[in-house]
Amino acid sequence: MVFATAWHPLLGSGRVFCYTPVRPRPPTWAGRGEVSIMPVIAVIGGQWGDEGKGRVIDLLAENAEVVARFSGGANAGHTVVNQRGRFALHLVPSGIFNPQAICIIGNGVAVDPASLLEEIATLQRAGVSTERLYVSDRAHLVMPYHQLFDQLEEERLGQSALGTTRRGIGPAFADKAARLGIRLADLQDPKDFLERLAPILELKNAILTKVYGRPALGLEEVHTRYLDLGRQLRGYVRETHLLLQEALDQDKRVILEGAQGVMLDVDFGTYPYVTSSSPLAAGAAAGLGIPARLDRALGVYKVYATRVGAGPLPTELDDDMGAALREWGKEYGATTGRPRRCGWFDAVAARHSTRLSGFTDIALTKLDVLDRCPTIKVCTAYMLEGQAITTFPASSAALARCVPVYEELQGWLEPTQGVRRFSDLPPRARAYVKRLEQLLACPVGLISVGDSREQMVQRRTFRWHAAPAA
Ligand code: GDP
Ligand code: IMO
Ligand code: MG
Repeated sequence: MVFATAWHPLLGSGRVFCYTPVRPRPPTWAGRGEVSIMPVIAVIGGQWGDEGKGRVIDLLAENAEVVARFSGGANAGHTVVNQRGRFALHLVPSGIFNPQAICIIGNGVAVDPASLLEEIATLQRAGVSTERLYVSDRAHLVMPYHQLFDQLEEERLGQSALGTTRRGIGPAFADKAARLGIRLADLQDPKDFLERLAPILELKNAILTKVYGRPALGLEEVHTRYLDLGRQLRGYVRETHLLLQEALDQDKRVILEGAQGVMLDVDFGTYPYVTSSSPLAAGAAAGLGIPARLDRALGVYKVYATRVGAGPLPTELDDDMGAALREWGKEYGATTGRPRRCGWFDAVAARHSTRLSGFTDIALTKLDVLDRCPTIKVCTAYMLEGQAITTFPASSAALARCVPVYEELQGWLEPTQGVRRFSDLPPRARAYVKRLEQLLACPVGLISVGDSREQMVQRRTFRWHAAPAA
C-alpha cells in the first residue's frame, strides 16, 4: 500500500492511499517522450444489471466535469436518491444533478426520442437543469417498429421469451448492425429523412403484416412524428465524440457511465439471455468515440445477486430467503416494475466480470439488506457433471445445470444503515466485505448501506489521476 501525493480530489478531502502504485500504462508520446495520463473512470455493473450504478455515479459525479453514457438505451433504470428527490433515469446520465458537469448520451446508446424528452421534462419539473446535456448525432433511434417487434417477438417466443424490457432495444441494435438504422443526424433534413425512412419502413411493414399479421405503420405518420421529436431534441444534439476528445485533451475529470451489467453483455453474458450492446468497460471507447484507454474501472456489485427477465441465475433462491431478499432490498425493476429474482453472491460470475472489465476498484452496494440474515452464503465454484469448475461456462444450457458450491459466513444481525466508516461496521460485516474483496481480487473502495447519496462507507477516498507536471 502506498500513499499517492500527485493526485487531485474527486471526493471530499483526506489522505489518499491505494493498494498498489498506479499501474504502468501504455505510453502516449507527447513530443519529448513524456507520458500523459487521462483522468477517466468507467463505472460498470459487474452482475446482471441494477447493481446501484446510478447512485454510485451520482456520488462520484459531484466532482466530475463530464459524465457520459456509452451503451444500452431506455432499458436501463438508474435510481438516484439525493437532495433533489428520487429519480429513475433511463437515458440521461446520473451526473445530471451536478449543474457544472457536462452530460453526454453517446453514439453507442439507442435513443428513444420520446422517452428522452419525457425524462428531460421530469428533471426540469424537479428543478434539475438539463442545459449541459448533449446527445450524439450518431446515436441510433429507437423507432416505433422496434418496440413493436420487441413485444411481438417476446409474445411469439412464449415460454422461451427472453423477458426483455420491451423498449425496442434488441431490434434497434440489430438494425444498427444490419445497416438499417436511423440516426439522430438523419432527422436534420425532412427530405433526406424521408428517403432514408421509406425503404426501411417498407421492409418493416412487410414483416409486420406478413410475419406477424399486424397492421402496417403509415410512412407519413412516422415521418412527421420523428421530425417533430427531432425538432424538440435539436438543441441537445452535438458531435459528442468531439466534446469528449477535447475534454480528454484537457485532462478533464470524466466518468464513463455503464448501463446493464457484464453478465448481460452480448458476447460474455449468459447468451442469448443478454442485452444487445456491450456493458463492458471496453464498450465505452466505441460507444463514445474515444481511445480505448482508461485510468480506472470501478465495478459495482450488489452484495447478493439479482436478475430480471429469463436466463440462468445459478445462485437463485426459490425459497423464503429469496423472497426475504426481494422484500428487504425492494427488488423490483426501476424500468418495468418486475420483481427481480434474488440469490446469493456468485463469485464465479463476479470473477468472470472483474477480469473482463479489468476493474481497478469495487463498489459494493446494499450491504444493509443483509443486516437481518443469520447466515450468508457465497458461491465459490459450480459443480457441473461431477466436476467443480470456477470459470464461467459459455453455454447457458450448461450454466442452467450448474449447482453452486457455497461457503457460509455468519451474519452480523445489526443495523448498518447509519454507518459511515468501515471501522464502525460490525466485525462480521467487515469480514464479509473482506471475503468478497479476496474473491474478486480487487480492492473495495465504496460500500453502500442505504439508497441515499450519503449512505455510503467510503473506505478509500477516490481521486482523479492528475496529469504529471510538465
Ligand atoms: P442501477 O441500474 O445499477 O443504477 O441500479 P437500480 O437503480 O436499477 O437498482 C438499485 C436499487 O437499489 C435502487 O432501488 C436503489 O435505490 C437501491 N439501492 C442502491 N444502493 C442501495 C443500498 O445501499 N441499500 C439499499 N437498501 N438500497 C439501495
Ligand atoms: P440497468 O442499467 C437489469 C435485461 C432484461 C432482459 C435482458 C434483455 O438498470 O442495470 P433488453 O430490453 O435489454 O433487450 O432485455 O436484459 N436488462 C436489464 N436488467 N438492469 C438493466 O439495466 C437491464 N437492461 C436490460 O430484463 O433480461
Ligand atoms: Mg437499473
